[in-house]
Amino acid sequence: MIPVKNCEQDRQEIRVWCDGCYDMVHFGHANSLRQAKALGDVLIVGVHTDEEISKHKGPPVFTQEERYKMVKAIKWVDQVVEGAPYVTTLDTLDKYNCDFCVHGDDITVTADGIDTYYMVKKAGRYREVPRTAGVSTTDLVGRMLLLTREHFKGDKEYSVALEHSSNLGTDSTARSPYTGCSQFLPTTQKIIQFSSGLSPKPTDKVVYVAGAFDLFHVGHLDFLEEAHKQGDFLIVGLHTDLEVNRYKGSNYPIMNLHERVLSVLACKYVHEVVIGAPYSVTSDLMDHFKVQVVCHGLTPTARDADGTDPYLVPKKRGCFKVLNSGNDMTTEDIVQRIIRHRLDYEDRNSRKEQKEMAVVKTLQNAHVKQNGDYNEKMATDAMS
Ligand code: CTP
Ligand code: C5P
Repeated sequence: MIPVKNCEQDRQEIRVWCDGCYDMVHFGHANSLRQAKALGDVLIVGVHTDEEISKHKGPPVFTQEERYKMVKAIKWVDQVVEGAPYVTTLDTLDKYNCDFCVHGDDITVTADGIDTYYMVKKAGRYREVPRTAGVSTTDLVGRMLLLTREHFKGDKEYSVALEHSSNLGTDSTARSPYTGCSQFLPTTQKIIQFSSGLSPKPTDKVVYVAGAFDLFHVGHLDFLEEAHKQGDFLIVGLHTDLEVNRYKGSNYPIMNLHERVLSVLACKYVHEVVIGAPYSVTSDLMDHFKVQVVCHGLTPTARDADGTDPYLVPKKRGCFKVLNSGNDMTTEDIVQRIIRHRLDYEDRNSRKEQKEMAVVKTLQNAHVKQNGDYNEKMATDAMS
């Protein structure tokens, strides 16, 4: 075990520290927090301010208040420390009684190119977990700016529908092994790791909501918090990429079904997810899951393909409820924010990639010096 410093003698639990920007929180962030929590008992997450991120990395997409809220809702997180310093110090770990700090195996440097974890590494209070390949804020921003559809590749039905689309084949320009756009490969193992594994008890009141939940954001979060309050067991139905594209058009959804499943499963209010739920809430679905309440937020509801109201059945049964999330953020708003700041983000992405490529080059040179030859494995090891 990592040497424990400045810990109370009688403290049995292992307290783990993570920190980061957590901008446009995605399932890659959630997966790193899941792995970090598994290394101890209590997980404390430090989130940087907008000012710190702008200084070291470039402008964040989400405000600090939004980012704090999103991280607090990830089910493996026990506490969020708002405004954590960009460079992790031993004082910070000690202040929150943390034994060690955990980070993904990518490189984080300050504006001056200094490793943000050099202090905790030197003190032996640093651990690494594998970064989730194929997802990053940089890649998501790329999908929004370039209107790519590569992320639908896994959806066979969609690929057929897009067979003649000239847009297929274009993609983000990132090439570094860290934020470069390798495709995320969903596995059953990942779903099991993210899932609560719970079934409703016979006495539980089951609540059902459905939607795209694309680019999972604070509006979704506030809505799910309200939906969770309506009963004891919350099931979220996620529509297929093809279905979402039918009623939203363009290159929506920005995240494919597998990615959306993991984003929603990481939320602490959600107990179960239906992967590829029918657009209309049917009697079969309600009976199968013993659904007692069906909810939708204040956002408009598109008609089903045949022109019918997707909530007709629960409305007839008298168990449909409209909830006010108190938050008017939408997926389109996020895309608009990105487009408005297009140049800033493009600049930020290219700077981030250049920094990463510089570190990869240094690693390669060091390896050549040590072993006389270089093979690709080293770079791929760094990103797996
Ligand atoms: N992380 C991860 N897998 C990803 C993306 C991020 O494990 N696909 C981890 C990072 O390694 C870090 C934590 O999530 O431990 C917080 O990352 P953050 O500071 O938000 O920045 P980035 O790594 O730059 O995330 P992104 O590239 O998505 O902006
Ligand atoms: O738009 P999407 O299908 O992702 O929305 C999923 C659910 O979240 C819907 O019921 C929608 O009304 C709700 N929502 C909300 N407040 C927001 C955004 C979405 O209540 N700001």
